[in-house]
Order: sequence, then structure tokens, then C-alpha cells
Amino acid sequence: MSTSRTFTSTTAGPNFASLSLRSESPPRSRNKAPLRYGGSLDKYESFEVTPAIGREFKDLQLSSLLDAPDSEDLIRDLAVTVSRRGVCFFREQDLTAQQMAVLTARLGQLSGKPTTSNLHVHPLTEESSELGDQIAEISSEKQAKGGGLRHVHDDRSLFSTNAWHSDITFEAVPSDYAMLKIHTLPATGGDTLWNSMYEAYDRLSPAMAAWLETLTATHDANFFADEARRLGIKIRTGERGSPFNQGDNLQAVHPVIRTNPVTGWKGLFVNKAFTKRINNVTKDESDYLLSYLHALCHNNFDMQLRFKWTRNAVAIWDNRSTQHSATYDYAEARAGDRACSVGEKPVLDPVSKSRRAALAEEGKTW
Ligand code: SIN
Repeated sequence: MSTSRTFTSTTAGPNFASLSLRSESPPRSRNKAPLRYGGSLDKYESFEVTPAIGREFKDLQLSSLLDAPDSEDLIRDLAVTVSRRGVCFFREQDLTAQQMAVLTARLGQLSGKPTTSNLHVHPLTEESSELGDQIAEISSEKQAKGGGLRHVHDDRSLFSTNAWHSDITFEAVPSDYAMLKIHTLPATGGDTLWNSMYEAYDRLSPAMAAWLETLTATHDANFFADEARRLGIKIRTGERGSPFNQGDNLQAVHPVIRTNPVTGWKGLFVNKAFTKRINNVTKDESDYLLSYLHALCHNNFDMQLRFKWTRNAVAIWDNRSTQHSATYDYAEARAGDRACSVGEKPVLDPVSKSRRAALAEEGKTW
């Protein structure tokens, strides 16, 4: 699925100091309370892509944030904005792959992720990869060989909704932020869709929401082992962006409803690609419940957006509170670079609120 480059000191491989951490619980966010937006991005023109999700900035070069005198304020405000709107878009960006890695890591660092979390190294990243570890190359040529989520379209069903996912939820410490820049585009097609999991939570009845808040689900990507065998590569078993993300069992248990520690808003945290089982109910109950929850996400196009890429556009999204899916409807080449940051252990804060309730209290529309 990916080739990658190394930009920071986190590397895969045996690390005995960190192995002892596996008996501990993965760390939570460092935030004691939701973060407030400080206003530093107000000078850049932007528009809301839909009421539920998405903001597009018109004249902001992301590279300029890295060395600005108020860089920390700007990047923290960017993290808060991405977490509130789910995904943000920026056209015609000059950001290099190295700068993408730095900015993606800083988004999480400045918005409270644990110090043990770094950029993710995908389990299918090749050791001898030309690009290193922490930037994945999104490439239609590689996807055609296997390794990505495109396999879900092979023989099970023809529903393109099968590929909806939040990145790496099979890890004990999944992602907070991810960034994708597309530099090679088909003449048409290859759009990416995002879906608001805050809004999915808001569409549950109070009784259903209260019950789901008591449940956990198992997320599983052990199908990557088959992909690795087919590709003739080994699953990465060393640290994948956190000492808590290692080993060859690509499986994790997370709450069905989680609180985003940056906004303090609740969201649904299951996805079609990786969530295989609701725990502590029968298999039939789990199957029907997951089927309902996926339908809630997939059938509501008024909580989704579809982004039409232009050359060198960048998307930054919050994986805690959105799902996304590529669209495999093109024959020509499509390629770009992606960085995925590891966040914190997902938890439900029982006193946290839904997005709509929180916005009503703030007197805001978004
Ligand atoms: C991804 O699933 O992270 C990549 C999305 C895309 O290629 O549009």
C-alpha cells in the first residue's frame, strides 16, 4: 500500500524500554479540558463546505505556519479548527513531504497528544522503502497490486461504502490527525469523501446513545497479513508511532462512543473497514447493531462531503471524529503523499456533550 520516508527519531524495531510499556494502559490526551480557538486564523478567508463538516481556506499556505513567529498559536488553532470542522482543505500548496510530516506531528503535539505518540508507520510499509517510514505514498499503481483498502471491492460486494474508515483504528493508540496532498490526478474521478461522526452521534435517540455509551467494539485489520503475504512483504511489528502500537496482532478494543479531547464533543467511533464486533453482545446482535450504525453513517449524505481534488491540494482531517473513503472510479494515475499522526487512547468522558448541544451553548452555528 505504501512507501515512506523517515523524518523524526521514532523508528520501528525492538525497543526493550518501550516493550515494558505494553503492560501499562495506553496514555490519554494531556488536555484537562477542551481547547479554545484563539482566533489566529481569522485573517485567512475561508468558507464552510457543508453545515455539518468541512472548511476550505482560500489563501493560506500551510508552509508559512511552520516558521511564523506565532507558529505555535497558529498550529494549535489549526488543530482546533480541524477538530471542530472534521476536515479542512487548502488548494495549491507548496508544502513538501518533509513539511507535511512536521506539521502533522505538531498538530497533535500542540493540541495535547501524549508525548509517547509520534507519526504512524503503517504495518504494510516496506522496510527498504525508498521514501522512509512516516510518509505513505498514496498511489493507484501500488493499490492495483494490493495492500490498501481497495481489496474490499474484490469479491464481497460492490458497495463502495465498504471502504469508509477512520485511519488505523486497529491500533491501541489510533490516529488524531492525518494529512493528504494529491499531486497526480486523473482527468476526472478520484474524489475523497468525509463523514462527520459528531453528527452521527447527534442522530441517535437519547436511549440508543445512552446504551451505546456503555459498549466497546473490536477493530481488526489482520486482513493486512494476507495482503502482506500476497505482496511478499512482512507486517511491521516494531513500534508503529507509539510503544503501545506494536506486534503482529492488528486488533484493538475501543469505546463505541468517544470524546474528542480537543473539542470535548462526543462522536460515534465505529467504521465499516475495521470495526468487526460489538463486544459483550451475541454475534447476531453485534451484526445487526453494526449494520444499523454503518447505515446511519452511509445513508446520511447531509453529514458527508465529497472533495474534488485539484493538483497540490491538501486535506487535513481529525480521525477521531470523521470517517473517509477514497473513490476508485478512475483508470489513470492518481498519487500523493500522506502523513498520519498517532493520538491518544480513545475514551468517553461521561460529562462531555454532543456537537449540537455544545454549539448551542456557545451560540455558534459551527
Ligand atoms: C486514505 O484512505 O487515507 C486515502 C484517501 C484517498 O486516497 O483519497
